Formats: sequence, C-alpha cells, structure tokens
Amino acid sequence: MRRSPAGLKILIPEAVSKGLTTRFFGKPLYCFNQLTSTNDLARELARGGASEGTTVLAESQTKGRGRHGRKWVSQEGKSLTFSIVLRPSIPQERFAELTLTAAVGVAKALERHGFHPAIKWPNDLLLSGRKVCGILTEVGPKKDKMTSAILGIGLNLSQSSADFPSDLRSIATSLKIQKGKTPDREVLLQEILSKLEEAYGWVRDGKFLRVLTEWRQRSILNGKQVKVSLGGRSFFAQVLDVDERGGLLVRTDIGTVERLTAGEVETLRLKAPASTRKTKTKGN
Ligand code: BTN
Repeated sequence: MRRSPAGLKILIPEAVSKGLTTRFFGKPLYCFNQLTSTNDLARELARGGASEGTTVLAESQTKGRGRHGRKWVSQEGKSLTFSIVLRPSIPQERFAELTLTAAVGVAKALERHGFHPAIKWPNDLLLSGRKVCGILTEVGPKKDKMTSAILGIGLNLSQSSADFPSDLRSIATSLKIQKGKTPDREVLLQEILSKLEEAYGWVRDGKFLRVLTEWRQRSILNGKQVKVSLGGRSFFAQVLDVDERGGLLVRTDIGTVERLTAGEVETLRLKAPASTRKTKTKGN
C-alpha cells in the first residue's frame, strides 16, 4: 500500500487490477497523484489510440471541471476521481445516453454498500438531497480515428463538510458524511467499474431502454415543478419524463412540451396553502 505525504492511502493500479472482474473497463488503469484533469489525460490517450475502457485516475486535480465550466474539487485520498475512454458505436448526438448510463452504474455500485442515491437529470447523484457524485461526458479528440467519448466521474468519499469550499457546503456531501464510514476505495472502484461496464454493455447492445428503466426508478424529478435555465433564458415547467434518448421532457407553464438536452433544472417547492416559493434543490 502507498501512502501520500498526508498519510492517506493512495490507489495503486496493480492492487485495483487484482480484484477487477471487468472485461475492459479499468484495463489499463493509470493512477496519478495529481493531474490537471483526468478527462484531459484520457483525451490525450484516446488521441494516441487508447483502447476502450482505458481508465485514468488522479488523487487530485488542479483544473478539475464540471458541467457549464464549473470547477470540480477533489482532495487527495478522499474521493474517486477518474475518467474512462469509451468508443461507443452511437453517434455524438446520442452521447447524453452515456451520462445517464454512468449515473445508473455508479448508483448500483453504491447501493451494494447500503446507499440509496437519487439521480437528478442529467448527471447528479444525490444523497439526502446533496450532491455526492458528478459525471461529465465529453466528446473525444477530433483527430481520433474512431469516435470516442471521455466519461469523467467524481465521487465524494470521505470529505468532511469543512473539506468542501464554503459555497458548496450546503449542497455537497460525501459517503462519510452520510454514514460515518466509507467503503474501501479499492473495492468501491472495482465495483463501480464493473457496474459501469455492465450498464454500458446494455447501450452497446442497443438496449438503452434497460438503462432508462433503472434511471427512472432513481430519478427525483418526475412530476416536479422546476425552473429551467437554458442558454440565457429561463422558464417554469413541470417535468414529464426522460425520453429514450436521454432528453428531459417538460411541460412549460404556457402548455408546450419541450425536450431538454442541456441546461440546468432546479426544483420549486410549493408552500402551503396558496403562494409558491422557490427553493434551490440541494445538489445543484
Ligand atoms: C458535474 O457535476 O458538473 C460533473 C463533475 C465531473 C467531475 C469529474 S472528476 C473526474 C473528471 N475530470 C474532470 O475534470 N471532471 C470529471
């Protein structure tokens, strides 16, 4: 076992690989103390022809990123921060399916340890209403001979609330905050890779509907009143469903149905009896 200067257990590829039951996810697996972003290196590897399943993990990132250009912070030894090179046979317009697939895979792995994450479209896993995991799917390099996608996952494991930047403390959580303990990082990574590969296999076999069924069972948005922010405009709507391509279907307050493939959705909570009040969903 390797330890960081702070005494934290560092993941080593050989140890993770030993218990890995996947066919190609995590094969090969590269682990680093620090990178700019695991998505950056995975993209570089994809450009060089890396095979599907190639996985890059970092204990910390100097330029970790989330959706909409947000920063993603992960502390050494306290999270699982990694990216996987995918070579999906689906066209780029359907990459939203990959994000939903990843959310299902990570959720299933966490469920093995008694956590019950909810999924908030498109990419957030929440525990007790707070964000525990974010997923960022990016299109692979243009010069790559084959289509590729980079699937980046950030999961909060053993942070205390003080470990999060102050503006995130009320909306972020970790497995440790939730249960007082965390599963072994090595084992959890093996299980996540295995569940991700399983769910990705459904997509590869043209069975995205199977992903969708699992996704819907964990979705917290169905039927909810929400505020949608999209490309500089915002509007109120009710969430109807997620469609078979991963788009969010909402009915706007003027009665039209819109299909969202991007944007932010925040839930509105009704205040009894008549007036309504806006409340930001924790985890946004
Ligand atoms: C989000 O919720 O906005 C997505 C967060 C994704 C964070 C992960 S951490 C591993 C990978 N590398 C990055 O720079 N981002 C993703």
